[in-house]
Amino acid sequence: MTYTVCYVSKATEGLGETEIEDVFATTLKNNAEKNIYGILLYGMGNFFQVLEGNKKTVESLYEQEIKNDTRHYDVFEIMRKTTQGPIFSSYSSVFTIVKTNEQLEQIKTYLRQNKVNTTSDKLSRLLNPFLLDL
Ligand SMILES: Cc1cc2nc3c(=O)[nH]c(=O)nc-3n(C[C@H](O)[C@H](O)[C@H](O)COP(=O)(O)O)c2cc1C
Repeated sequence: MTYTVCYVSKATEGLGETEIEDVFATTLKNNAEKNIYGILLYGMGNFFQVLEGNKKTVESLYEQEIKNDTRHYDVFEIMRKTTQGPIFSSYSSVFTIVKTNEQLEQIKTYLRQNKVNTTSDKLSRLLNPFLLDL
């Protein structure tokens, strides 16, 4: 079983490109080590993240690290549930940072084509507002 958490948050005022890149780098490195899949994207001053992995690992990362990180605030949870398996593990063998609209379109296409369950459908719709604003 896989545990999935999805949230949106607001980037702290004045957060620069370097700081965002720092978040991306830490995320890539740590999530690879922890076997966490999913996506992280930044657009319009907001972050959107999907975390998929072992329940304890995802919960402790989300509750103890991410939610307390001062680089963002107003963390709003959209989804938290146990799923059959990580949706994004067959999209990429590692955690994905989304930086371009092309990448976002690819992910949406992937989610449309892999309607394994309602989760992919829901995530696909949630990603809509981020298009064109990356
Ligand atoms: C929007 C956002 C998303 C983050 N996502 C992750 C993540 O998926 N994995 C992670 O390890 N850290 C993530 N972080 C960073 C953590 O809050 C924390 O700084 C980091 O886990 C500390 O790792 P370190 O001890 O290796 O420096 C995120 C931070 C922000 C602001």
